[in-house]
Amino acid sequence: MQLATFLPLVLAAVVNAHFQLQYPIPRGPFVEDQEPTFCDGYTDAVSNRTVFPLANGVINLNSEHPQWAVGVIVSTQQDPTSFAAFNSSSGYQMAVQFFETSGEGQYCFPIDLASSGVSGIQDGANVTIQVVYDGGDGTLYQCADLTLSANVTAPSNATSTCTNVTVTASGTAAAAAATATSTGGAKKDGIAVSGIVATALMALGLSFV
Ligand SMILES: *[C@@H]1O[C@H](CO)[C@@H](O)[C@H](O)[C@H]1NC(C)=O
Ligand SMILES: *[C@@H]1O[C@H](CO)[C@@H](O)[C@H](O)[C@H]1NC(C)=O
Ligand SMILES: *[C@@H]1O[C@H](CO)[C@@H](O)[C@H](O)[C@H]1NC(C)=O
Ligand SMILES: *[C@@H]1O[C@H](CO)[C@@H](O)[C@H](O)[C@H]1NC(C)=O
Ligand SMILES: *[C@@H]1O[C@H](CO)[C@@H](O)[C@H](O)[C@H]1NC(C)=O
Ligand SMILES: *[C@@H]1O[C@H](CO)[C@@H](O)[C@H](O)[C@H]1NC(C)=O
Repeated sequence: MQLATFLPLVLAAVVNAHFQLQYPIPRGPFVEDQEPTFCDGYTDAVSNRTVFPLANGVINLNSEHPQWAVGVIVSTQQDPTSFAAFNSSSGYQMAVQFFETSGEGQYCFPIDLASSGVSGIQDGANVTIQVVYDGGDGTLYQCADLTLSANVTAPSNATSTCTNVTVTASGTAAAAAATATSTGGAKKDGIAVSGIVATALMALGLSFV
């Protein structure tokens, strides 16, 4: 129990590899030392938002870790300045459920905000996504401020410069935590919930160890 509470803090101090969001463009230039904190240290939303696909969007990131877990949370506030702004009464608003994959370099995975079920997501809405990444040595965060549009698709260079990741996970982070609790961390929808995903979930306050 004590280890579970203590682990994310200990690991945060020794992060030595990172990730860089390539598309959509993050709130500001990547700041390595700030990445273990909310939105890579950028507290406020920017006004030059990326017009981003309401459905069938894509996230492109550079991973410096060979084995990593990632999930995306979303806020519908105009200027979300804390993790609480990404939360609802039933917990974090998940745009992409946590999944684990492997490989270093530029990776793409799908994000379909229209089907996230989060209230307030619609054509023309301003939202902020926060990419939550964990390569095993601490949880890292980058944000992008968006205006959603039903009329745009991701730019071709966002999807041509990456290796596509197939995301098969579904369900909620809470369900993952519940499953992990009952199985000691075995599976979520047939996908192993490893120590990396567990660490990422714990960093969001979804402790289940
Ligand atoms: C979205 O954000 C932009 C820039 O911050 C602002 O000018 C615009 O009024 C906002 N739109 C909505 C629907 O809130
Ligand atoms: C917004 O403008 C800043 C400053 O010019 C730039 O660094 C950033 O990349 C821009 N963001 C987007 C999403 O275009
Ligand atoms: C998010 O919501 C959950 C459930 O209401 C709550 O337990 C948790 O403390 C909240 N987290 C934040 C950062 O507000
Ligand atoms: C998308 O197109 C529809 C129909 O032309 C329009 O009403 C809507 O405002 C457009 N959405 C955005 C975000 O521009
Ligand atoms: C796509 O091209 C634009 C314009 O040249 C560039 O700013 C952006 O970084 C590129 N995006 C990716 C993911 O390579
Ligand atoms: C990745 O998937 C997207 C969307 O299906 C596709 O447009 C793109 O060509 C793929 N990229 C690569 C490098 O296979």
